[in-house]
Amino acid sequence: MAAGRLIVPPAVEPSHEGVDPNVSPNSSQANSSREGEPVLRVRNVSKRFGAVTALDGVSIDFHIGETVGVVGDNGAGKSTLLKVMTGVHRPDGGSLEVEGKEVTFDAPGVARANGIEAVYQDLALVDDMNVAENMFLGREIRAGGIGRTLGIVNRKAMRRQAADAIANLRVPIPHIDETLVRRMSGGQRQGVAIARSIMWGRKVLLLDEPTAALGVKQQDEVERMIQELRGKSLAMMIIAHNMPLVFRLTDRIIVLRHGRVVAALATAETSPEEVVTYITGAKTPVSAAS
Ligand SMILES: Nc1ncnc2c1ncn2[C@@H]1O[C@H](COP(=O)(O)OP(=O)(O)O)[C@@H](O)[C@H]1O
Ligand SMILES: [Mg+2]
Repeated sequence: MAAGRLIVPPAVEPSHEGVDPNVSPNSSQANSSREGEPVLRVRNVSKRFGAVTALDGVSIDFHIGETVGVVGDNGAGKSTLLKVMTGVHRPDGGSLEVEGKEVTFDAPGVARANGIEAVYQDLALVDDMNVAENMFLGREIRAGGIGRTLGIVNRKAMRRQAADAIANLRVPIPHIDETLVRRMSGGQRQGVAIARSIMWGRKVLLLDEPTAALGVKQQDEVERMIQELRGKSLAMMIIAHNMPLVFRLTDRIIVLRHGRVVAALATAETSPEEVVTYITGAKTPVSAAS
């Protein structure tokens, strides 16, 4: 793969047009009135683990410039959805489309090659490496000439690009060369993981509970980073429990319950109270329609 490009995408206005909060769940019609082709489309995806149905006919469209919140109780299938979207899990049914073309994420790196990056719940940083080493893990910049043949990596270029990405996001890490990840705060680690995704992710950025393990100040810091990415030419999905955060950061909210989409709502047209009624099952798609 080519060296990481630092992306400073042009700002676009997130569009609220065409959002129908009363769409029927589990339907590929859910977002079909939206303008433009989705950058990523999850269609009728199912995933089972033995007897457990983690995802059951989930359809969601993702558009550039838009941030989608995915909420639901523990075990609702949120992390599984994200992992299907990155090829960690193969779906048992349904399909994924990138820019209108069906894709199969059947090898590590296929989703990445399609511009899709994720920050997983467990972050997947290596404690005993510094920031630049973590950000280029598995995709190091090779040296030129004879050095390439010898498998030598270009540390200077990697350090420079990592420093740029960290600075662009204003992640508060004073010495990116000297500080090992193990010595960083939770907020700094999240910052490194997000900066790494931004550095490589060209189209779609998926975040699983980006602020869950953080103190209040660090939550604010990470929220500010995400806020800066909104409206840029990226589609984002944010899995989160914190309802005020979901309302501050998203354009649409998808509620998963027992592996199904039970609500697809425009953030501006719903309320935390209504979303919670879907999460708990107090309100169901049927009762919502009646
Ligand atoms: N690798 C796995 N093996 C077996 N069961 C799993 C696996 N990953 C998730 N599950 C199960 O699938 C369901 C959905 O899990 P998950 O997607 O992690 O939910 P959430 O992220 O919404 O809390 C749960 O019942 C969980 O126990
Ligand atoms: Mg999860």
